[in-house]
Amino acid sequence: MALKVEKKDKNKNILIFEYQVLSSLKGLEHVPNVYDFVNNSEQNLIVMDLLGINLAKARRCLEQRYSLKIVIQILIEMLTSIREVHDRGFIHRDVKASNFVLCRDSRRIFIVDFGLAKRHLDQVTKQPLPRRRKADFRGTVSFASLNAHNNIDLSRRDDIWSFYFTMLDFLNEKLEWREQRDYTIT
Ligand SMILES: Nc1ncnc2c1ncn2[C@@H]1O[C@H](COP(=O)(O)OP(=O)(O)O)[C@@H](O)[C@H]1O
Ligand SMILES: [Mg+2]
Repeated sequence: MALKVEKKDKNKNILIFEYQVLSSLKGLEHVPNVYDFVNNSEQNLIVMDLLGINLAKARRCLEQRYSLKIVIQILIEMLTSIREVHDRGFIHRDVKASNFVLCRDSRRIFIVDFGLAKRHLDQVTKQPLPRRRKADFRGTVSFASLNAHNNIDLSRRDDIWSFYFTMLDFLNEKLEWREQRDYTIT
């Protein structure tokens, strides 16, 4: 089992939200199964399946020693996982290598970290939700779409833009705007 833990904070508790998103994504092949949300006086915790290392770390381990064929297999798995999430009515909004993890006993790749996820389809009618007129920046600067930088409400295509920038980075193409640290702005 894997535990994701956050310290309780009066203003910002996102794990309960992440647990609700993971619960809505239950049964998807490329999303870890979630079991429980637990809290005590100091912490909130999510209990989910334990998976392997993330793709940013895997890439550092391999350095340049991976073939184009493997990169393409990885990218197809990433796209498949994004599509599953989209088809269930959510956008991820923080697509980057460290939010994808390897499976410990198969070639499958899982998408994790739904702290910034958002519904793009109405839960009941399954119709697209109306776009908000303005949205604060959320996500990771190096991999964010132009829309995100322009404070436009994000949609599925923006996950695909972030996937595209992650892919270029994986293929060692230089992203001129690449920052050293891939921290998420929440
Ligand atoms: N279910 C899991 N099994 C194994 N490792 C995981 C799992 N979920 C997350 N991780 C690892 O923990 C890291 C941080 O988790 P993440 O959900 O991305 O948290 P944060 O919101 O801090 O970015 C990921 O980059 C990944 O390496
Ligand atoms: Mg993360």
